[in-house]
Amino acid sequence: MEILDLRHFSSLDLRPLLEDETGVWSRLLCWDYTGSADMILRYVDAKILPGYAAVDRGRVFGYSFFVYEGSKGVIGDLFVANGSRLLDPHAVESRLLTHVIETLQQSPGIHRVEAQLLVHEAGVVSRPFVEQGFQRHARLFMVLPLGNTPRPPVALYQDIEIRRWSEQDYQSAAATITTAYRGHVDSEINDQYRTLSGSLRFLNNIVRFPGCGTFDPESSFVAVHKRARTLVGLILCSRVRHDVGHVTQVCVLPEYRSHRIGEALMETTAENLRQRKFSLLSLTVTEANTRAVQLYFRLGFDTKRVFDAFVWEG
Ligand SMILES: CC(C)(COP(=O)(O)OP(=O)(O)OC[C@H]1O[C@@H](n2cnc3c(N)ncnc32)[C@H](O)[C@@H]1OP(=O)(O)O)[C@@H](O)C(=O)NCCC(=O)NCCS
Repeated sequence: MEILDLRHFSSLDLRPLLEDETGVWSRLLCWDYTGSADMILRYVDAKILPGYAAVDRGRVFGYSFFVYEGSKGVIGDLFVANGSRLLDPHAVESRLLTHVIETLQQSPGIHRVEAQLLVHEAGVVSRPFVEQGFQRHARLFMVLPLGNTPRPPVALYQDIEIRRWSEQDYQSAAATITTAYRGHVDSEINDQYRTLSGSLRFLNNIVRFPGCGTFDPESSFVAVHKRARTLVGLILCSRVRHDVGHVTQVCVLPEYRSHRIGEALMETTAENLRQRKFSLLSLTVTEANTRAVQLYFRLGFDTKRVFDAFVWEG
């Protein structure tokens, strides 16, 4: 088995592996990965995707890639096919990760590396990260079956209204995200939340690019203070399968918390999806964010998986 630069390969070499991976995302996360897989294969053919492939007798059976975002490296994916003649796929995962981590840590100008590997159960691929000085945060992948019984809307203070997301909310949404995550564990995991320009980049990735499913404006909402006409909270939802929504962002300004605005935003999105015959709503949340976790449990979400987020600052 050899570990080789991903850019030696084409979509022909990687397609069977990505088909396997698409099956795993569907089974474990109810997530249609075909759009992401096609995008990865296009980048592979363009020879612009940095990463490594695990190769056995000419066959690619594992890969990991990363992207550069300014002075940050983000590990985008890691997948090793199971069921081959290999004894230990985890050993191959470790070797791929070790190559990726070393490359990123030695890249000039890279001072931070982030990774969130959703399909890998917490702890399973953590060794190479921990050995290289990464911090590890447990995160939950939670799901709510939507059913078809409508739920009554949550009563809110009359000052607050919930209306559908619009393109004009971009700037104020970025400001709300930055304020909502000040000093929050999630801004240790994702440093985009720390600045206005970072939050705008985050929004851009969610709303304009198909990185995390396809943004669904119909089930995305903002909470607005009617008199002040300011945004006090928001929820963004993407479509990750024809009948599955995924909350990519929900937050409320600190001074407006504990008034059920978070609950109302979640219920509004769930109800919109229910009416459109979606079957499931999913989200990810940091385990240490107990307030949010409690809210999701109360709304009926269940933890389907626990995975790790890793962060290194050099
Ligand atoms: C998580 C977050 C969105 C919740 O927003 P919120 O408007 O405060 O949420 P709610 O008021 O609906 O629910 C939380 C509180 O209301 C209470 N509550 C909500 N619904 C309730 C219900 N049906 N019955 C009784 N109590 C309820 C809860 O007990 C909780 O109480 P607490 O304030 O004492 O902790 C907000 O805390 C936030 O923006 N946090 C930072 C960003 C973040 O963590 N986002 C989630 C990332 S996954």
